[in-house]
Amino acid sequence: MTKFPDGFLWGGATAANQLEGGYQDGGKGLSIADALPGGPDRFKIVQQPDFDWTIDEQRYTYPNHTGIDHYHRFKEDIALFAEMGFKCYRFSIAWSRIFPQGDELEPNEAGLKFYDAVIAECLKYKIEPVITISHYEMPLNLAKLYGGWANKRLITFYERFARTVLTRYHDQVSYWMTFNEINSAAHFPVMSQGLVPANGANQKQNIFQAWHNQFVAGAMAVKIGHELDPHLQVGCMLLFATTYSYNANPVNQLATIQQNQDFNYFCGDVQIRGEYPAYTNRLMRQYGFTFNDLNWNDEELALLKANPVDYIGFSYYMSAAVEVTAEQETVAGNLLGGVKNPFLKASDWGWQIDPVGLRIALNELYDRYQKPLFIVENGLGAVDQIDAQHQVDDDYRIDYLREHIEAMAGAIGDGVDLIGYTPWGCIDLVSASTGQMSKRYGFIYVDLDDAGQGTLDRYRKKSFGWYQTVIKSNGEQL
Ligand code: BG6
Repeated sequence: MTKFPDGFLWGGATAANQLEGGYQDGGKGLSIADALPGGPDRFKIVQQPDFDWTIDEQRYTYPNHTGIDHYHRFKEDIALFAEMGFKCYRFSIAWSRIFPQGDELEPNEAGLKFYDAVIAECLKYKIEPVITISHYEMPLNLAKLYGGWANKRLITFYERFARTVLTRYHDQVSYWMTFNEINSAAHFPVMSQGLVPANGANQKQNIFQAWHNQFVAGAMAVKIGHELDPHLQVGCMLLFATTYSYNANPVNQLATIQQNQDFNYFCGDVQIRGEYPAYTNRLMRQYGFTFNDLNWNDEELALLKANPVDYIGFSYYMSAAVEVTAEQETVAGNLLGGVKNPFLKASDWGWQIDPVGLRIALNELYDRYQKPLFIVENGLGAVDQIDAQHQVDDDYRIDYLREHIEAMAGAIGDGVDLIGYTPWGCIDLVSASTGQMSKRYGFIYVDLDDAGQGTLDRYRKKSFGWYQTVIKSNGEQL
């Protein structure tokens, strides 16, 4: 008996702003990602009270402007994905290629032509495109002029964008996601909501208002998608970090349940079940307001109820541990951090590696929602060494991925409906949290350093051949 079902969607994942470059080509407008400085301090910089999105090339570098030049090299890159045997490829459509300022009435045809070509290239190799409609790259104008997602007008702008791309591609693309890691705004609202301290990121109510507006916009995208084709699969995308109590102290256990609700489940509960969960006011009261203080109406709640997502896309990199009674050593993480778990090792960037946590995540999510699951990001950010023959022996990455794929097989054996797996950054790209190139996830090495120097040539790492075998054997040969 095979561990993975026939038709399992093996592939890889990227995001437009992290690999395309060509940030002003084809009429593209600036996105918020274009205004993020490179380097490990990028989050600290945008959290300064005076950060106002000004692009200051005298002081900072902007690696997202050039990415890995996928805009001009996508054919070469997709050919490499095809060589690995990808069944699907997850990428995003840069909103500011299609609506450069975000508030136009008509789309930019040159931007659409680019994605016509990307999709055609995928289909040429029978690679199923999996599209994230919005991945940390809203038009900069919407953040600067409108104040990001806290403004309800964004719903109309997003609806126009979503309708444009769904209408154009629904007969070629079956799998869609509305917003990348929508819950990440709990810790860092700049990328998914366009909120920085200068436009209200420090007031939690703005983040919840922004979420509500995103939920409504996302439900609208589901509705549009299903009107175009009832079989279209429109999913949500959550950042999931399996969360444990540090010990058996019931106080920590209760805090763990609440952290799960507040971080892992809140957005999913609304998008998957179509209604706000019972703990909504418990969560909001921590910040001094309740649901009634937000700007919402019955029509919006009815839209949410009528248009839940079809499947659950989620990223999984690490787990978290909760200890609220004593001081424990803390760790870094993908916007999360938390208490150091003594049973786990961590990546070079301090993210705690926990494959068993993935099996737990899959079981928890499936028990809670009974909807198909799609792991749309997972992987190890590491420093790779390339030798004179252009070899990269990334056994550490193979080990990481193997253990996570074994955990997936375990979860499928547990009865979980898992439909696909797209490891993050299948080709090296710019890191979202640090703006570095040196934090690499790919099966394909890109000759580019943190200072933007390099030939941009692509090389197959050892993990390239390994993943090719994994796909060919449908997960039997790990
Ligand atoms: C996820 C994001 O949080 O993690 C990606 O959806 C991101 O955009 C990925 O790149 C890995 O994070 P990082 O910070 O290592 O690039």
